[in-house]
Amino acid sequence: QLLLDTLAQHSIIKDTRSLVIPGQTDPAESHEAQITILGALNSLHSREMISYETHEISSHVLTAEGAQIVLEGSHEARVWAALPAKGEGEPMGVQDLKKKIGDEAAKVGQGRAFKNGWIAKDGSGFVKNVSSIEDVTRLELREVDATGTLKAGEKSLAELRKRKLIVQRKGQWFTALKGPNFSTSIAKPETDLTVDMLTSGSWRNAAFKKYNFEADGIPTSGGAFHPLLKVREEIRNIFLEMGFEEMPTNTFVESGFWCFDALFVPQLHPARELQDTFYLSDPSTSLKPAEDYYKRVATVHEKGGHGSIGYRTPWSDEESHKLLLRTHTTASSAAMLYKLAAKCRDEIHQRENSVATETGTSTTAEGDGFRPAKLFSIDRVFRNETMDATHLAEFHQVEGVVADRNLTLADLIGFMRVFFKKMGITDVRFKPAYNPYTEPSLEIFAFHPMLQKWVEIGNSGMFRPEMLEPMGLPKDVRVHGWGISLERPTMIRYGINNIRTLVGHKTSIEGVENSPAVMF
Ligand code: PHE
Repeated sequence: QLLLDTLAQHSIIKDTRSLVIPGQTDPAESHEAQITILGALNSLHSREMISYETHEISSHVLTAEGAQIVLEGSHEARVWAALPAKGEGEPMGVQDLKKKIGDEAAKVGQGRAFKNGWIAKDGSGFVKNVSSIEDVTRLELREVDATGTLKAGEKSLAELRKRKLIVQRKGQWFTALKGPNFSTSIAKPETDLTVDMLTSGSWRNAAFKKYNFEADGIPTSGGAFHPLLKVREEIRNIFLEMGFEEMPTNTFVESGFWCFDALFVPQLHPARELQDTFYLSDPSTSLKPAEDYYKRVATVHEKGGHGSIGYRTPWSDEESHKLLLRTHTTASSAAMLYKLAAKCRDEIHQRENSVATETGTSTTAEGDGFRPAKLFSIDRVFRNETMDATHLAEFHQVEGVVADRNLTLADLIGFMRVFFKKMGITDVRFKPAYNPYTEPSLEIFAFHPMLQKWVEIGNSGMFRPEMLEPMGLPKDVRVHGWGISLERPTMIRYGINNIRTLVGHKTSIEGVENSPAVMF
């Protein structure tokens, strides 16, 4: 308003340093006052109410030391003043001088006073050498204090700057003129063209705010990976760098056969009951698996074989054909192992044929066609759990399976140590456990650095011959496998203690967007 009123009166403001801003305590020509004015100039300029020009100036201000010299005199002048005149009184020693005017002033001042020829040595002390002096430093600093510069010119200014008695200050002042929209009252400009303005025609006379093309835009929010996906990717990379192949796991719905029977889980096992497994009602039954394999599985359950006495309970087709939400990805592992065995069967079959037709001189494949395999998967599984802070009705299972001839339990343990180390878990322990499909079975425990105790992180074991041999895998092929959840390491890594803040409708979008990659 001050700018507008002054312009209304004089049409031009030649030098904004002449304006006294009401209520401003800094002097009108000060840097601070000019900054305030610049803000007002910019805002009026954006409305085209005024135009202005900027003038750069450089001025100098005193440092604290410079200001002190204006008050007390330069160090050299104070040294001179403190000393007795020649022949009048005792010459003064350095210690006394320091006591009188302070260490710093005595040290710096003494050298300069000598150089100027103001003082002289007399015995072990100093005396005045001249009867009067002109304290040039103090006079120059007074001038700088009053005018911001020195008539003597840049060389003297540079000298004072070097002595750290003054510092340069860049400053600005402005010349202001009326602009095309000049008025003494600041109308709030319109920011939007509205329907009302168009229908009433008021847009013709309205003042619109100019677009600010320099303004930063609102950052767009991009997509973000969920923490589970980030950890899944890192675990996937560990498997890949260890030479594993990813299994297809798109079969969320499985049959009782693949989820349990093929794994030699007894048909009366409690895990198969309604309170643990979700069954489908429509459709409720699966297609039949390959007849011969199905028969071999039914037989090993009912009667045994492959060194086993079986469960010796009646086999139920109905139980085997039920459709359910898979309770573990080991159902997919079983299907993959069956395929692996199918390759062996094909090869053996081919060989037998060629032996028959070529009357004894076999030229085709030797052996049983088995190829070692390292397979993994990371996908969703479903269990009818009571939900709480650490349990939902679904979670992700990380599963690894290795098939090779003559593998031992030591291979499994060694493998898991390497694998978990790559995940940053160095303290692992194994405890004997029971799984219907593995023997021996091991529970995996890891030392939790935050909880300071051992927590169970997974389950593992050597798959039973009752499971592998009906598939048609050669007798010396051993398969070991293990499974962990994806959620537990994710929660540990991100310090999350309630699974419902990680999965489900209570997940914070912001938390997801801001969660960093974990980098095992
Ligand atoms: N299927 C087991 C589980 O759900 C994990 C496992 C996989 C165990 C492979 C042994 C072998 O806990």
